[in-house]
Amino acid sequence: MATRTIRGPQLARLLADWRGAGPEYQALARALSGLLVDGRLPLQLRLPAERELAVALGSSRTTVSAAYRTLRQRGFLRSRRGAGSWTALPEDHRLTPAGLLTRYDEAELLDLSFAAPAAPDVLPEAVAEAAEELPRYASAHGYFPMGIAPLREAVAESYTARGLPTSPAQIVITSGAQQAYDLLLRLLTGPGETVLIESPTYPNAPEAARAQRLRVASYGLGPDGWDAELLTDTVRQVRPRAAYVCADFHNPTGHVMPAEVRSRLVAAAHAAGAMVIVDETFAELTLDTAADPLPPPVAAHDRHGRVLSLGSMSKAFWGGLRIGWIRGPASLLIHLAASRAATDLGSPVLEQLIAVRLLARREQVLDGRRHAFAQARDFLAAALAERLPQWRFRLPSGGVGLWLELDAPISSALVRAAEAHGLRLAPGPRFGVDGVLEQYLRLPFTLPQAELACAVERLVAASEDVHTAPAAEWPPSLVVA
Ligand SMILES: Cc1ncc(COP(=O)(O)O)c(C=O)c1O
Repeated sequence: MATRTIRGPQLARLLADWRGAGPEYQALARALSGLLVDGRLPLQLRLPAERELAVALGSSRTTVSAAYRTLRQRGFLRSRRGAGSWTALPEDHRLTPAGLLTRYDEAELLDLSFAAPAAPDVLPEAVAEAAEELPRYASAHGYFPMGIAPLREAVAESYTARGLPTSPAQIVITSGAQQAYDLLLRLLTGPGETVLIESPTYPNAPEAARAQRLRVASYGLGPDGWDAELLTDTVRQVRPRAAYVCADFHNPTGHVMPAEVRSRLVAAAHAAGAMVIVDETFAELTLDTAADPLPPPVAAHDRHGRVLSLGSMSKAFWGGLRIGWIRGPASLLIHLAASRAATDLGSPVLEQLIAVRLLARREQVLDGRRHAFAQARDFLAAALAERLPQWRFRLPSGGVGLWLELDAPISSALVRAAEAHGLRLAPGPRFGVDGVLEQYLRLPFTLPQAELACAVERLVAASEDVHTAPAAEWPPSLVVA
């Protein structure tokens, strides 16, 4: 109940020139809600009685009464007969950290369906330098189906620095890891053939395979990640054309594939005549300085040209660049670049130049990212432990998200309810090759901490909604990345 009140003359002073177009009661309601929205009237403040305010404003009681009624209908006011009227937070509004009331409209939507951060601060510098270099390329056609030389060199060097000697001829630049994967499937497989994919997995992996009319077989990750025996047996039995794995900070679980599993997977793939597509999108995002270093890349176990590694600028740098790459046998990549021409003649030169400039600042950017993500991860974990202790999770040592085990199989209902509270999420089943995983939810920590705090509050509200009255309608399917 209210602890504060405001007297008629005080409120009249705040309202100042409140009269405007239209009926007087509407102008008064607008002016009062305006004071609330911009934080000049706090919540749970008892407003003057109708008669008192009417006198202070030189207006009629009927006008004040109608204005209060309008505010009540919009949720800005709660009244109890004989006791008074208090300012309130309408259900379709939220209180921002700055004390403002804002509607949950699209601009206010917190979008956690994308696990990718905003661009680093150095982006404008990198763009300016790249723009200066562009004229060197502008005098020729500008088509580079394998990517521009300086970027292929920079990416090759980054593999060599990870202990995997690589020449630029082993690199093709693509428009994101997503295109890299799609191009590889086109090159390596034909309709009706099988791709083996982990479950849970990055949702666009099975979707791209199905779009190419491939069969998708799944290998189920356990609570501790991969089981070498099961994985290699599955490869032997399914005999896929390709197996897709996300070995370093797996999306969505955060698991890291142990060295032994890597080596046995490559051997099993070779024996079964399968290629291995390794998605290394998160490999640079080790968050704990004290954590064990990542095992050598899967390709380090490859002696027969079976492994193709995918990388991306999207998670450590910026997804808006749409720059990714493939590392693989040079002879195979030439065929890939040739087959790419049917749908795409190469990635934009300016974005590739920007990527070169960003990679030149790699240590600086990565240090900042690791520090910020580690803090955001710990902040989110603490907020969840306090506000939603019934949900369980393992703290990942890298990557950009938590994989939560919910208290019941409610993931889809929860995501529906969260939309109504201005929070967009990808439900667990989106990550399942066979659509299960209703008891799981991925929660990225790529947003600033204030927004993560707000997201947790919205999750609390959504969880209460689901446990009291499950929402009836499904939202349209989300794009997830
Ligand atoms: C595992 C994984 N692979 C690939 C991608 C797509 O990356 P890109 O933006 O480079 O296409 C994502 C994006 O979320 C991802 O999580």
